[in-house]
Amino acid sequence: MVEPRMRQESYKSFFPIFEQHPSLIYLDHAATSQKPSMVIERMRQYLEESNGSPHRGAHLLSVEATRQYDYGRGKVAEFIGANSEREIVFTKNATEALNLIAFSYGRTFVDSGDEIVIAITSHHSNIVPWQQIAKEKGAILKYLYVDQEGDFLPGEIDKITPRTKIVAFPWISNGLGCIHDPERLTKRAHEFGAVVVLDAAQAIAHMPVDVKEMGIDFLVFSGHKMYGPTGVGVLYGKYELLEVMPPFLTGGDMIEYVEEQETTFATVPERFEAGTQHVEGVVGLVAAIDFIASIGLEEIALKEQRITKYAMKKLSELKCVQIYGPKIDKDRGALVTFNVEGIHPHDMATLLDQKGIAIRAGHHCTQPLMKYLEITASCRASFSIYNYVEEIDALVEGILYAREVFGYVNG
Ligand SMILES: Cc1ncc(COP(=O)(O)O)c(C=O)c1O
Repeated sequence: MVEPRMRQESYKSFFPIFEQHPSLIYLDHAATSQKPSMVIERMRQYLEESNGSPHRGAHLLSVEATRQYDYGRGKVAEFIGANSEREIVFTKNATEALNLIAFSYGRTFVDSGDEIVIAITSHHSNIVPWQQIAKEKGAILKYLYVDQEGDFLPGEIDKITPRTKIVAFPWISNGLGCIHDPERLTKRAHEFGAVVVLDAAQAIAHMPVDVKEMGIDFLVFSGHKMYGPTGVGVLYGKYELLEVMPPFLTGGDMIEYVEEQETTFATVPERFEAGTQHVEGVVGLVAAIDFIASIGLEEIALKEQRITKYAMKKLSELKCVQIYGPKIDKDRGALVTFNVEGIHPHDMATLLDQKGIAIRAGHHCTQPLMKYLEITASCRASFSIYNYVEEIDALVEGILYAREVFGYVNG
């Protein structure tokens, strides 16, 4: 059933960008989400009223900046069901969080001959750091391959063995939209004492997370894909793991004492947050969490699933369109990747842009997946609460327009 348009429009009104671009059809939420006024306002208010350098001074503004930053840590811990705020490390984004895990945990605990097992559906940010560690340590990097719908091929998870130290994968693939089952992989990984790195970049704004219940060892995400600002990301790590990890970046704020030749480091999580922290980013992230809570993740998921199903239906009715990932009757993330016969994705994105429709085209930072699927690029339409079904109809019209421009008749 299609939601009444008014309801969908009302979500759109939370996002000032659509006042500036009233006819914009934004189908690129998976790359970065638009920001609700609640987030923009809170960041503005913080900068106007409370801006100071956190953890560095006794004066009023420094104390207030520290208070807001520390409050953010607790808020994130609560949002993802962590045991304690000490399990939350603020990073620049998901990419930095994954690098932190690889270059701190991986470099310390992966040895020559060990195995790192990652899903072929992974984003480059969950591939390249592991390649680097595998090369440096003489470890073996193995891939878990999937079928056309993004399900792991039979027997693939048996690649997780007693030699495996790390199992890393995306919860939702940004290239295929498939949803991997963290429980299944975590169970297998833990049987052999491996740690699980779950990339929740595409999941965090779309489904509830409870790291404790899931038993995940590490989880990462970016603020900007969940209605928050760029420049702030989160690394969740089980406290006992973070505690034995050496620093990643070094410098101010992550130390206990610095002597001329030696340094002792701060405890967790400050040990991993070198330099002046991005307080307004954390303030924005807190506002984004409040924004999500004000609608409810269940409501968000329901709405997105409706729009995604509608897009799947409409796009699959077009003979010229090939859709990748899960079939229409299966669950998928709020995104659809596809190709249109005879039109390169970049041309398609450019022609759609002429019609005011923003999609993503390219390899989506998943080149190994693209190579495995034997394609070089694809189009991706991704959805959020600010999209409505008429926008999918416009996408379909846009695709037909592009076909016409390229000289195809009858769609
Ligand atoms: C699944 C996935 N992981 C990681 C990332 C990296 O996110 P960021 O660029 O914010 O670090 C992305 C970004 O598109 C993603 O889709």
